[in-house]
Amino acid sequence: MERRHLAECGSTNTEALAHLREGGGPLLVSASRQTAGRGRLGRAWQSDDASLTFSLGLPLPADLDLSGLSLVVGCTVADTLDPDGERIRLKWPNDLFLDGAKLGGILIETVPLQHEHRGVVIGIGLNLQPLPADADRSAFASGHAALQSLTPGATASATLDRLAPALRAVLADFETLGFGPWQAAFSRRDLAAGQRVRVGEQLGVARGVSTRGELLLDTATGIALVSAGELSLRLE
Ligand code: BTN
Repeated sequence: MERRHLAECGSTNTEALAHLREGGGPLLVSASRQTAGRGRLGRAWQSDDASLTFSLGLPLPADLDLSGLSLVVGCTVADTLDPDGERIRLKWPNDLFLDGAKLGGILIETVPLQHEHRGVVIGIGLNLQPLPADADRSAFASGHAALQSLTPGATASATLDRLAPALRAVLADFETLGFGPWQAAFSRRDLAAGQRVRVGEQLGVARGVSTRGELLLDTATGIALVSAGELSLRLE
């Protein structure tokens, strides 16, 4: 897979989307700094050299069901960086938590391509270093965790060297098998399982995910299946 590293760019997701739109093949693009990083739901995402910032873009069949993809990516990042499975947890659909605070997030974006394909870009941002003591913490509603507290001395390039081959292998499996085989892996790391949560307007108890990666929400009127779309989950 082609790899590029940029000292600075607007967003690595934008770089990977443009590459795919121009007919390019699989690409891993990382940056030391983003000036217009994006999070889910239109939020901004700060990234500098205290974090790992990268996007993996690849063309995939247009009819491939992507609904569980962010969970598969989350499981792969968690299993690679925390193989004993005790400290990194996943908050449906795209957040990575370490010891109860936000370690990073995943933003998946797509672009239509010719010949019944679409370009799929998986953007990942991970905090490597703790915030400086005088940092403004108001932007970190879910707290801030740093990979270096799990892996002392972790650098962006060494972490990317661990993640890139694992993600590439898992994406090939996802393309043929879909989300089903990861349902159990997700449930081992599921931060919200058994807890009262709010998803959009709906309140209920989180009961894991379906074989397509939808959230199973136990509500007063029964189990509701919630797809990720533009929703995020809040622990109540
Ligand atoms: C979130 O938690 O809302 C998702 C954050 C995703 C951030 C990454 S950093 C690399 C890639 N480029 C972006 O502009 N966003 C993603």
